[in-house]
Amino acid sequence: MKYHHQHFDYLIIGSGAAGLLAAHQLAPHGTVGIVNKGNFSESNTYQAQGGIAGVSDFLDSTEKHVNDTLQAGVGLCYEAVAQQVAEAGGHIIHELSALGMPFDEDAEGLLHLTQEGGHSHRRIAHAKDATGRAIGETLLKHVQNHANIQCLRQHMAVDLITSHRLGYQTGQNRCLGVYLLNPDKRVITVSAGQIILATGGAGKVYMYTSNPHAATGDGIAMAWRAGCKVMNMEFMQFHPTCLYHASAPTMLLSEALRGEGAHLINQNGHRFVFDYDARGELAPRDIVARAIDHEIKKYGQDCMFLDASQLGNTRILEHFPNIHQRLLKLGLDMRQQSIPVVPAAHYICGGVATNLAGKTDLKGLYVIGESACTGLHGANRLASNSLLECLVMAKECSKHILSQTDKSMAPLPLPTWDESGIIPERERILIKQNWDEIRATMSNYVGIVRSNERLRRARRRLTVIQDEIAYFYWKHPLSRDLIELRNLSIISELIIRSAQQRHESRGLHYSTDYPDTKTMGEDTYLTPE
Ligand code: FAD
Ligand code: SIN
Repeated sequence: MKYHHQHFDYLIIGSGAAGLLAAHQLAPHGTVGIVNKGNFSESNTYQAQGGIAGVSDFLDSTEKHVNDTLQAGVGLCYEAVAQQVAEAGGHIIHELSALGMPFDEDAEGLLHLTQEGGHSHRRIAHAKDATGRAIGETLLKHVQNHANIQCLRQHMAVDLITSHRLGYQTGQNRCLGVYLLNPDKRVITVSAGQIILATGGAGKVYMYTSNPHAATGDGIAMAWRAGCKVMNMEFMQFHPTCLYHASAPTMLLSEALRGEGAHLINQNGHRFVFDYDARGELAPRDIVARAIDHEIKKYGQDCMFLDASQLGNTRILEHFPNIHQRLLKLGLDMRQQSIPVVPAAHYICGGVATNLAGKTDLKGLYVIGESACTGLHGANRLASNSLLECLVMAKECSKHILSQTDKSMAPLPLPTWDESGIIPERERILIKQNWDEIRATMSNYVGIVRSNERLRRARRRLTVIQDEIAYFYWKHPLSRDLIELRNLSIISELIIRSAQQRHESRGLHYSTDYPDTKTMGEDTYLTPE
């Protein structure tokens, strides 16, 4: 057994909003490694459009933001968490501005605030229709050239190294490091005093998603394998308006378009969402997505339509220049025509059970951002609360780490990855087929509408796929596709098992067998054996 590895005081896996801000906060206090499996632009953060929620208008209040969050979350949000996050909103926006974030302003130099579904007030600060990219670029400028920070691009986290896995069964289990697949396809060992998973979402479990390729739930799957509890995994949020177009399957049409006045219409031009909810297009996402799904199925259509023509030329060019340009390239002009839309997997409300500081069951391991479940979103996330939560968590996590007496540990000898018995891979079709099957199964059986029979079928198929993966995984050289496939299969299992535990319909989980919502809502927990 060889013992060669790199060591950091703080190791952060993931360079979206949560990971970048945590790196910025921790860098003055020790060495930081920040890892991503692709490039800095490959994250949910870089795709975020609408903006970041935060009270900054004197007619608005923290209390209203909290109430909107609780109402969207259908009885499962943790009120104290919602309170802390909403209170932080205005400060976070202010701090981002101070770091150079180019938020849009109105003619008087005040923040331009947009509107989204479920918000009782205009409170979404934004940078045109590409807020996430602006946040990412702003934070990256402060992180990239910092003397204490080393950026490891194209390094994919494979698995966590824990004391129990190494055979030290006595004492509390502790996270000691991580195995990373480097660009040369070698697995390297990295140890750290504290490890933060900020690996984002898991939209890729579904066939249609707004998420980029990186969103395969790796952090949640790694934490689960290392012994951490997960919570509320059945609550996958489907965004109502993703473009329906063969050449741009993951393009989102921001909810801010509806916030600024765009209508959802069916093939006859009817504004159908009012048939489902008096708030129409600005009802919370679960309601709007289900309404679209229902209309599509009722009329045997492929999609519904978003009509933004009434916003007019100036507002479209001013507030939605990126979406407009991308549509024009596809031959669609939203100033003049309705745009075909379908709901698509967008955000996982569940995740590794943590508090706002990202603390997990495993000492030395924190999970922040979309991979974590703090109780903020309950059964359905309020639009634009996610970037806010990522940033609040990054700050709280760093604060908590720095308050620990054993925050930076001396490097321990960790074993290198065992590659004995590996045979060359002969056919990639085995991996591709499993990928496609998982995504089709999840889309067809575990989508917006579920039933006992669909969930049973999904679980049966998944068991077969997992057996095949288990057989293949340890015999063949590691590749990004293979690692992601194994993680996708675990995320799918966790979603299905959580859905099977919920004998009611609530927020993002709708079951035809249990259409009612129970009076008292409960979280769904799964604990590794
Ligand atoms: P991400 O930003 O997804 O970053 C994850 C990082 O982890 C990436 O760097 C990735 O490379 C890395 N990673 C993953 N797995 C591994 C691994 N195994 N090894 C190494 N690195 C790994 N929210 C809002 O609040 N407002 C919005 O307007 C908004 N719009 C959105 C629009 C779109 C199209 C999408 C997809 C999401 C949107 N969201 C929005 C949600 C929000 O963007 C995300 O929830 C948030 O950005 C997640 O940030 P994160 O830091 O947790 O993860
Ligand atoms: C959007 O711009 O519609 C996405 C907002 C979000 O997911 O919070």
